[in-house]
Amino acid sequence: MLGPAALGQQAAAQAGKPADLNVAIIGTGSQGMNLLNNCLKIPGIRFKAVCDIWPYSQTYAGNLLKKYGQPVNVYTDYQDLLAKEKDLDAVIVATPDWMHAEHAVACLKAGKHVYCEKEMSNSLDQAKQMVLAARQSGKLLQIGHQRRSNPLYEHALNPIYKDKVLGDITNFQGQWNRPVSDSLGWPKGRELDAATLTKYGYDTMEAFRNWRWYKKFSGGPISDLGSHQIDIFSWFLKATPTAIQATGGHDFYKNREWYDNVMTLFEYGMPSRTVRGFYEVLNTSSYGGFYEAFLGTEGSLVVSEDSKRSLFMREDQAPRREWEDQSEKIKNLDKDTISLKIGETLTADGKKDPQAQKLLAESKKPPHQLHLENFFNAVRNGTPLSCPPEVGYETAVAVLRINEAVASGQKVQFKPEEFKV
Ligand SMILES: NC(=O)c1ccc[n+]([C@@H]2O[C@H](COP(=O)([O-])OP(=O)(O)OC[C@H]3O[C@@H](n4cnc5c(N)ncnc54)[C@H](O)[C@@H]3O)[C@@H](O)[C@H]2O)c1
Repeated sequence: MLGPAALGQQAAAQAGKPADLNVAIIGTGSQGMNLLNNCLKIPGIRFKAVCDIWPYSQTYAGNLLKKYGQPVNVYTDYQDLLAKEKDLDAVIVATPDWMHAEHAVACLKAGKHVYCEKEMSNSLDQAKQMVLAARQSGKLLQIGHQRRSNPLYEHALNPIYKDKVLGDITNFQGQWNRPVSDSLGWPKGRELDAATLTKYGYDTMEAFRNWRWYKKFSGGPISDLGSHQIDIFSWFLKATPTAIQATGGHDFYKNREWYDNVMTLFEYGMPSRTVRGFYEVLNTSSYGGFYEAFLGTEGSLVVSEDSKRSLFMREDQAPRREWEDQSEKIKNLDKDTISLKIGETLTADGKKDPQAQKLLAESKKPPHQLHLENFFNAVRNGTPLSCPPEVGYETAVAVLRINEAVASGQKVQFKPEEFKV
């Protein structure tokens, strides 16, 4: 006989509606709240519980959900949540990186599907445990590299391979540069007490709030920011790196543990040639913002989560495509630079691509909503995840070993099997 949840899903399916999913979230800080807000735009997502060790974060999440007619049970400890909430379909994990493995593995073992924020972990061993736990549980694990569900990236990828608009890709570049910022504080009187901080692994309130800058809790800015974009290099090149060299240091923020600026050289040994690329992350200047660029013999393509920065530039000697003349030009930039807009043809024959119209409609949604939708669709209908744990792991290997290259000053060589679990 079907239980109440299954009966509800059957009824929803008969009515042509998406089935309701019971969901909890662990970690309702800045990104947890962003994900919560995005989930509230997705039909059928019903929050049953939230968990956070900081009452301040609990209050924000609980109040928001109450406002949207979803009163939830509030927990401080995830084990308590998993013991009491028996009717959950999925859990979102948005705690600091060093807790991802513990939280995600426990949820998978408890039979829940998991959406876990990037970086998968700050430890490769723990990231591997996450892949294995997903496989053993037979449950889904989506890693929060949300560009993987972004139609603009799909739109950029198609012409590279379908129409070879870049010719042969020979190089790539990318960066995430942001301005100087103060350490994060906390509202007066809302500190966690010393016993709670110690229980959950933090020495001070300052470390709890600024976990990104501590080696115990995070892989630093190259992981926090770079992981999104290094993921794109491997995705677009359909390969994993063969070697990296890197330099970096805590040259500006003398009191922070992690390197505040990192510059990395990548080599991707491809069958036809080595494709070389450069990536930097700066925390002292926002010059150039954030983007990924692929440079080829016939053209270059810049793609960014900031769609206004996304563009295509054709080399003079490359065969001209009809759509280039019809596309919106970007003034005062390189010759023949056009904005990369979904809905513009970008096909060799200049015909409207029906797929592009679908992508255009999707692209109006915020990036995190699209990635969450991809996850919930996979839970409901068995459609593919856009960032399964194996992909997250490949990215984690490429990203976390950059810190090793910085520390040693040596070239790090990869064996292909290192990227596999
Ligand atoms: N995909 C993206 O675009 C994106 C953007 C920002 C952050 N993130 C990721 O989201 C995660 C959270 O980042 P953030 O900026 O929200 O950090 P944050 O410090 O603002 O929030 C973390 C929350 O987790 C809670 N927490 C800490 N330890 C916990 C534990 N053991 N159990 C339960 N709750 C605990 C904290 O109290 C806090 O409320 C990180 O993994 C980060 O890399 C992803």
